[in-house]
Amino acid sequence: MHGFENAIINVDGLVTPAMDARVPVLDRGFLYGDSVYEVFRTYDGVAFLLDEHFARLAKSAELIHLRMTQSAPLLLDEIRRTIREGGFAAGEDLYVRFAVTRGAGAIDLNPDPSVASRYVIIARPLPRWPAEDYSVGVTLAVPEVRRNPVTSLDPNIKGGNYLNNILGVLQAKELGADDCVMLSQDGLVAEASNSNVWFDLDGTLVTPGPKAGNLLGLTKGALHDVLHENGVASADADIPLSRIADAAECFLTSATREVMPVKSVLMPDGKTADFPAGGGGKTRFAMQAFKKFIASYVESHRRHKVV
Ligand SMILES: Cc1ncc(COP(=O)(O)O)c(C=O)c1O
Repeated sequence: MHGFENAIINVDGLVTPAMDARVPVLDRGFLYGDSVYEVFRTYDGVAFLLDEHFARLAKSAELIHLRMTQSAPLLLDEIRRTIREGGFAAGEDLYVRFAVTRGAGAIDLNPDPSVASRYVIIARPLPRWPAEDYSVGVTLAVPEVRRNPVTSLDPNIKGGNYLNNILGVLQAKELGADDCVMLSQDGLVAEASNSNVWFDLDGTLVTPGPKAGNLLGLTKGALHDVLHENGVASADADIPLSRIADAAECFLTSATREVMPVKSVLMPDGKTADFPAGGGGKTRFAMQAFKKFIASYVESHRRHKVV
């Protein structure tokens, strides 16, 4: 997921190549991480779960009392214009990130309500995950740092400050893993650094519910629906750390990963929980069923074609 050289960026209406894009230093997004954002990808030119991403952006903004001075239609028009000016091939798979900051002002934590919000749109060819991440799976480690308590920072604020998750992934990397699986203060499995985590426990695909502190991933929500339609039991549940070792399978979900198998989880006691390479039967079913869902979504959402 490296290399933004081919990205095209729109900052408040000014569209430039990535290296020329500028945000003022007094922008609160830079100073305080005072911003919200979304990432979607396109399939055959169609923006996947577009309405849901806009709804979640609005929800994040509401949770931090950010009054967006740009309407959703304006942001969507600007996303389309950015992509047009980026000169991408028709139907090319893109990664699109759009953020809204609380704008620039005095260096003062208390926001000035008269300041206009700023938007930043980044569009680039979709970076591909290494093929082995799917054919074998990724490795996770449980870091020492715990997920922010939900009473301190609502994990459904998809905001510009990811320090908690950055610490998690840094510690996991130091432990030799690809990513972290973070715990809540009371030892419940919360989520990975930027994806939701799932386990096959006693025949049900379970993923942590709201108590542990995690973002309500759009992929997670859609996958629950897909599984239910296919008669596969899935649920949100509290998953104590000790239950990881009981799981038969494990995988991650996010907009850019879709369903990605997890090969192993390194536990705090130094033991490793191992899972089938390339995903067990349930993981592989979830991967395929989700692909089918994407294909049917794309067919029925041609109006969301953006490239
Ligand atoms: C902290 C966190 N959890 C979970 C997710 C997965 O969400 P989605 O499936 O909407 O990409 C993300 C993705 O951005 C994330 O940042």
